[in-house]
Amino acid sequence: MNDVDPDFWRARWGEGRIGFHEGAPNALLRKHLSVLGERKRVFVPLCGKAEDLAFLAAQGHQVVGVELVESAVQAFFAEHGVTPVVTQRAGFVEYSAQNITVFAGDYFACTREVLGEVSAFYDRAAVIALPESLRGPYVKLLRALVPVRSPGLVITVEYPQEQMAPPPFSVPETELRAHYAGARLECVEQVKAEGPRLGAIAAVEKCFTVKL
Ligand SMILES: C[S@@+](CC[C@H](N)C(=O)[O-])C[C@H]1O[C@@H](n2cnc3c(N)ncnc32)[C@H](O)[C@@H]1O
Repeated sequence: MNDVDPDFWRARWGEGRIGFHEGAPNALLRKHLSVLGERKRVFVPLCGKAEDLAFLAAQGHQVVGVELVESAVQAFFAEHGVTPVVTQRAGFVEYSAQNITVFAGDYFACTREVLGEVSAFYDRAAVIALPESLRGPYVKLLRALVPVRSPGLVITVEYPQEQMAPPPFSVPETELRAHYAGARLECVEQVKAEGPRLGAIAAVEKCFTVKL
């Protein structure tokens, strides 16, 4: 039985329970940014209203995110003082301004046609937001949407799952490696996970570079 479903996320955003939102560019992204290369079209699945979108755009990338909860997408643009062009597109609502496009809708309904060509990806708190049953399908779809040999950055957490109710889910490195079998995956940094809930237990945040 899994309670982390679309209604769960809608309720979290609706009630403002968004402890996962850092409000600043992610430290590991800043540090390992160069792995993504230059002037890419970076796919950011399950993007929330992360500052990482604006940070990547400021580095010269085109950015394309997907987020289930439309109010989060609206908040991102409002908080950055830009008025996006809004277009209905194959079951998604596309919000676009300057070099950032965010599709409001279900990641699992994404296609290459909707997303367009992307050339890199960034996953922070995306795979770890999903229950085990969805993590395989999530990575499988990611690998269908992002071309082979594209670079990526993935940030996960690991902790004894019984010590805390997810999300975030603990995603063991062995499991991640199984999902990315055939791709090059390197754990480039490992730090103690911080945050109101994770900080209280022995949780490790891991940063992986990926070459699909
Ligand atoms: C833990 S948050 C991380 C958000 C963002 N990556 C960040 O670093 O702040 C996970 C996000 O995934 C979104 N989400 C969950 N399931 C989704 C789905 N099926 N399609 C698109 N977004 C989804 C949630 O609404 C939530 O904003």
